[in-house]
Amino acid sequence: MRVLILTGAGISADSGLGTFRDAGGLWTRYPLEEVATPEGWRRDPAKVMEFYNARRAQAAAAVPNPAHEALARLEAALDGGVTIVTQNVDSLHEAAGARNVIHMHGRLDGALCAVCEHRWPAPVRMAPADPCPACGAPATRPDVVWFGEMPYRMEAILAALSQADLFVSIGTSGEVYPAAGFVEEAAAQGIRTLELNLEASRGSALFDEARQGPASTLVPVWVAEMLGD
Ligand code: APR
Repeated sequence: MRVLILTGAGISADSGLGTFRDAGGLWTRYPLEEVATPEGWRRDPAKVMEFYNARRAQAAAAVPNPAHEALARLEAALDGGVTIVTQNVDSLHEAAGARNVIHMHGRLDGALCAVCEHRWPAPVRMAPADPCPACGAPATRPDVVWFGEMPYRMEAILAALSQADLFVSIGTSGEVYPAAGFVEEAAAQGIRTLELNLEASRGSALFDEARQGPASTLVPVWVAEMLGD
């Protein structure tokens, strides 16, 4: 059995990390054009850095919840049969013990050189003038994918999706492509699809099955079903 699991901000909501589009979500408090686009970065890198330094500190203080833990348990039990593709930039899947995690929107605990594309572990507080450890250029940025930039490892993701027997979407609104299109991609290939989300997402009707509720409740129940507990 091969499962491709897509996760979004909703899976980390029960760990105290905000979502983007719910009431009080990040994009209701920060103009995303100013803090999550290359234009915003060019206009005011210090402001963007502050935004990501704050999110990095918050994510570093968060702990995995039962949903992250259940997915790590499923991955261990299916021995190579689980691929987690996360839109999240926190590292709670890894903190819960998951190993095969693809961060398609990058990760807060990564730093990237805007000149030579060298990557290294992000310092807790990052500044635009931090010199790149490889080329020395003062061109450090968060290793996250901004609107208008290409998500990471799309080829590997689509290859894993087409090998899957089951596609599961957890905690995402289905508002942002290309992730929002994965369910159609799966359905077109005859792959069974399941959504676990607090409420019906934009793409709910496209899923063979959709369950509503908090991920920290729904995901452990689903994993227990998968493992025949
Ligand atoms: N359990 C399960 N689902 C939840 C929970 C919860 N406790 N709380 C909220 N949700 C659901 C919401 O109903 C919503 O459908 O999680 C989803 C969160 O949606 P968004 O805030 O849009 O987050 P996400 O789908 O991850 O956004 C995708 O957009 O801004 C970009 O790069 C950013 O990766 C992000 C992408």
